[in-house]
Amino acid sequence: MRILLLGAGGQVGFELMRALGPLGELRVTTRDGLLPGGATCLRADLADSDAALITLLDRSAPDLIVNAAAYTAVDRAEDEPVLAQRINGAAVGTLGRWAAPRGVPVIHYSTDYVFDGRGARPWREDDATAPLNAYGASKRSGEQALIAAAGPHLILRTAWVYAARGHNFLRSMLRLAAERDVLRVVDDQIGAPTPARLIANATAAIVARLAPCGIFAADAPWGIYHLTAGGQTSWCGFARAIVQAAQRAGLIVRAPEVQAIASTDYPTRARRPAWSVLDCTRAQDTFALRLPSWDSALDAVIGELATLR
Ligand SMILES: NC(=O)c1ccc[n+]([C@@H]2O[C@H](COP(=O)([O-])OP(=O)(O)OC[C@H]3O[C@@H](n4cnc5c(N)ncnc54)[C@H](OP(=O)(O)O)[C@@H]3O)[C@@H](O)[C@H]2O)c1
Repeated sequence: MRILLLGAGGQVGFELMRALGPLGELRVTTRDGLLPGGATCLRADLADSDAALITLLDRSAPDLIVNAAAYTAVDRAEDEPVLAQRINGAAVGTLGRWAAPRGVPVIHYSTDYVFDGRGARPWREDDATAPLNAYGASKRSGEQALIAAAGPHLILRTAWVYAARGHNFLRSMLRLAAERDVLRVVDDQIGAPTPARLIANATAAIVARLAPCGIFAADAPWGIYHLTAGGQTSWCGFARAIVQAAQRAGLIVRAPEVQAIASTDYPTRARRPAWSVLDCTRAQDTFALRLPSWDSALDAVIGELATLR
């Protein structure tokens, strides 16, 4: 099976390189044709013309496309909504329209930010979407474009992604924890912090299950699935767990005090949903996945960071 992975330099894409490698002949792209560390790979800028993307697809002739590339700058997207739509919306439609007539499955990632955050129970796949910000709207456009292409696809909605590398909340907290005595962190947004490695491993497990001999069944259970770690916490709860686990692992000498604040005390350019917990029952039941709780998943990433020191 020839697998084309787009966005190999991102948090999820980087982990997917490792997880998907054993499943087939993996070709990877980044925006500039360079991987983290400097090795070269294919180049695919989703802001380029459709023609450039189609040429890449024709030349690569993949049996499976996995798209981990995305415009993820949530606040900047408020000022660049057209670019966000191009990368997260229109380009995903191009992928889908190339893949559908060829029967090539597309695995694509989306976000809790397609919801408005006003739920009272974990969001299910068929709950009504109502993005609060330009990034969420662009990601919803991508979902719709892929669905409209009407080919085999999986849309895996995830949330609060972090990893031992890349730009993310965990790494920001560890940096600030080493510099400050007090961290003030938002306590009224609730979600499930999810390691990129968990997403990549679950994706590989799904691919292995749907294509055990390298060929996907036409009647595979395509569609939208929610995929996060289990449980729920606030950003403040996540920050407290990070500093405690980091101190236990010797990553920081002393844990700063973590003070809870309201979102109104930390204004951001983009509005964010208050309630972002995703119900992952459908993915767990359909693909026999066992998703760890967010706090045990955190311990694994802290352990990874400790070994990298
Ligand atoms: N991060 C989260 O908290 C979160 C939450 C929910 C869902 N998701 C979704 O999960 C998926 C993976 O996100 P992630 O956390 O791995 O994001 P990430 O670390 O920001 O990685 C995104 C990757 O996309 C690349 N990219 C940006 N613009 C591009 C373009 N025009 N053409 C090609 N590549 C481009 C980036 O390259 P550069 O480094 O060159 O910019 C980066 O390597 C995305 O679909 C995202 O929407 C993420």
